Amino acid sequence: MGRDVIVACDFPGKEEVLRFLDRFPEEKPYVKIGMELFYAEGPAIVREIKARGHRIFLDLKLHDIPNTVKSAMAVLSRLDVDMVNLHAAGTAAMMTAALEGLTRPDGTRPLLIAVTQLTSTSEERMRGELLIDRPLDEVVMAYAKNAAQAGLDGVVCSPLEAAKVHDACGSAFLTVTPGVRFADSDVGDQARVTTPERAREIGSDYIVVGRPITRAEDPVAAYRRCVREFVG
Ligand code: C5P
Repeated sequence: MGRDVIVACDFPGKEEVLRFLDRFPEEKPYVKIGMELFYAEGPAIVREIKARGHRIFLDLKLHDIPNTVKSAMAVLSRLDVDMVNLHAAGTAAMMTAALEGLTRPDGTRPLLIAVTQLTSTSEERMRGELLIDRPLDEVVMAYAKNAAQAGLDGVVCSPLEAAKVHDACGSAFLTVTPGVRFADSDVGDQARVTTPERAREIGSDYIVVGRPITRAEDPVAAYRRCVREFVG
């Protein structure tokens, strides 16, 4: 599987996201659609962006009882997206059910990626509120292994964890990594960041890049720079 840059299209509505995508004269970037845009515009925005020739990572982070997740995944597979995700905390039973639901009658399915612990959850909160009494990185790696054993395709993680995930789960297990910034750009609210070039060296399979591209003065130039540094 080739490395690629996924553009996090965190826009409030259809008009803004299509205006952004219209700026690309040739390329069809891989697009991440998150909760904000999906809840605002519904499945129609997914169909519209797909019809324009983009691949789509639908970032809805499902987490519910296995039967509900299975049915929801069946609906998402019919939307013809390329990648979807769920919370590994939903257990192996939920992940297995998700895979079943996602698989189309012809045997094909979108890639299924697990979120381990959200990067917004600190070890202190995990211990104090979730009552998980283990080091955070141990929990992240255990959840990644659960996802791999359940047959998922990869995890969302920090680029800094990508090598460790590959060591534990195999090199074919995908690492999808946000928290990417150019060496000379603003870090914003991301605490631990990596450049596209460094993410490639550590072994990320996909980098998810939002504001460094979407808020750039010249988004097309920023996207091209990202591809150049990450894909080569
Ligand atoms: O704008 P920026 O490059 O920080 O966007 C990163 C994208 O990746 C956002 O859509 C954010 O929600 C998502 N993300 C993240 N960290 C995670 C999981 C997802 O930044 N741990």
